[in-house]
Amino acid sequence: MQLSELQRNWNVFGETDPLWSVLTDVRFKNNKWDPVAFFRTGEQEIDAVFAGLDSMGVEVPHGRALDFGCAVGRLTQALCRHFDRCDGVDIAPSMIELARKYDKFPGRCHYHVNDRDDLTLFADNTFDFVYSRLVLQHMQPVYSKKYIREFIRVLSPGGIALFQIPAGAPDAAVRPPNSFDLPAAGFKASLAVEVPLPQLQAGAPFCIDVKVTNASPIAWPESRDGNGRDLVVLGNHWLTTEGRMIIQDDGRTPVMQGLNPGESATIPLWITAPTAAGTYTLELDMVKEGVAWFKQRGSKTCRVTVEVRGSVSQEPSGKKPVMEMHCVPKQDVLVLVESAGGKTLLVMDDHSADPLLSYQYVVTKTNDRRPAALPMSTASGISVDADRSLPVSGTKSAADEVLGLLNGLAQHAALQARVNEGLVKRLLTVEGMVRETRTLIHRLGADAPVGGRFAVYQGNNIALTRILNRYAMYVDTTDLSMTPQLMMQGQWEPSVTSFLLRIVRPGMTVVDIGAGFGYFSVLAGAHVGPNGKVEAIEADPRNHEILRLNVEANGLSAQSARTSARS
Ligand SMILES: C[S@@+](CC[C@H](N)C(=O)[O-])C[C@H]1O[C@@H](n2cnc3c(N)ncnc32)[C@H](O)[C@@H]1O
Repeated sequence: MQLSELQRNWNVFGETDPLWSVLTDVRFKNNKWDPVAFFRTGEQEIDAVFAGLDSMGVEVPHGRALDFGCAVGRLTQALCRHFDRCDGVDIAPSMIELARKYDKFPGRCHYHVNDRDDLTLFADNTFDFVYSRLVLQHMQPVYSKKYIREFIRVLSPGGIALFQIPAGAPDAAVRPPNSFDLPAAGFKASLAVEVPLPQLQAGAPFCIDVKVTNASPIAWPESRDGNGRDLVVLGNHWLTTEGRMIIQDDGRTPVMQGLNPGESATIPLWITAPTAAGTYTLELDMVKEGVAWFKQRGSKTCRVTVEVRGSVSQEPSGKKPVMEMHCVPKQDVLVLVESAGGKTLLVMDDHSADPLLSYQYVVTKTNDRRPAALPMSTASGISVDADRSLPVSGTKSAADEVLGLLNGLAQHAALQARVNEGLVKRLLTVEGMVRETRTLIHRLGADAPVGGRFAVYQGNNIALTRILNRYAMYVDTTDLSMTPQLMMQGQWEPSVTSFLLRIVRPGMTVVDIGAGFGYFSVLAGAHVGPNGKVEAIEADPRNHEILRLNVEANGLSAQSARTSARS
């Protein structure tokens, strides 16, 4: 879709259902969002972003911020609480008109319509912070890639750009840990709606309870990491009374708890009635996303006749606007950022485009263009290109230091080689080291965004390491599940970690049941602040001992009963 058509679509969204088109929760379709609640989601998001960046040691100067794809200003308004000046940019004039109506920071907040495929309305190095969420996914990669380059151009050196974009469907190579291929025999369910449905209002959302029974001999998996990817999911279609499909995809609820063969659970499903009055067949079925509906594998669906009254007027243009969805693979984004003069500090899981994999990229811009390595002796036939910085994490990561050292070593060796060709043998070794180290860093860097790993053995099978570049963490060296990941990657379950950093707020009381070493208790303790509290409960005496050490080591118990460990 060209930008002109994209603009037309978003303009219609802005005219017809602006808040829902930003946050597409089915309950708030047809202008049912309460603006106060809607804007509060923006504040929560931005507060969580800053808490997260802060806890990872990333500092953001607070001068000027850009919100790209701002729509009605949900996030721009929230950013205004943190920056001296904010600019919101959107392609849709109807969105910008509303954003100006909702603006509570006149003079500080500036909204712009931009229908170009660049950001030439801003000079280089203008912003300390560039933010974009739920935007780049709605345009073709040819545009999103250009905007990402532009983010880096308009970013000041030392500033931070944080943007989200889906990377693609989870494939076999990058499946999450709860990846589960349902065998053919598992596609058998029995579904029932036990309470008769009332007459529904056209176009209105409605929640029904569906009794779902696993009628197969295969256990359906539970969600182990809190997200619904790869689970068995309840969904529905709308059919005419003659059985012709009119709406293929409507509601979806994953069976988070899993079901054993023969086991049942009552699961809520949000459906949206068709927009024209009439009699319809609501068809309920299970689906394994990206694989098949159960009906296609011979399972029986549940069909219910539903009366729909009233009707919903169509959009003024008569043509339904479309929200496109596009992805850019993570590796492409990392390479693009680097080639545009940026440096990726962190890549975080983001679930805003489920079931697609989606990431938030935290990027900075440096003036620190490393000098190219000295050309090596041509006699040696060696060419070492240690100048290309790889996308590894941390403001000054161990990986950078190693590369820097090796680069220096290579340069030194090159000079020596000019004097003494006998050094060529050693240079070959250096080149091998550089290549191997780079491969290693590349592998680690791609999926281990938080750097600064170290561990010191303390005796008694306990080591001290550091997590998220910040917190001290004692670990049990005999533990082979969490400990290796904490030591190697400095974090545990990145998606749960970023979720926790997003939702835990100052003043909250958090209960961590089965706290283990206290990884999540420590994070929560640091985030609830002096008025909050964390109850960390751990039954295993050995873990409990380590948990106590971690609470102490991070200065949490000392601060007005913020975190306490119990067994
Ligand atoms: C789903 S909304 C997200 C709004 C906002 N980022 C938020 O999360 O509250 C997507 C917005 O991106 C805007 N948009 C889409 N393509 C754009 C482009 N090429 N340039 C600027 N804005 C664009 C749309 O007009 C729409 O307002």
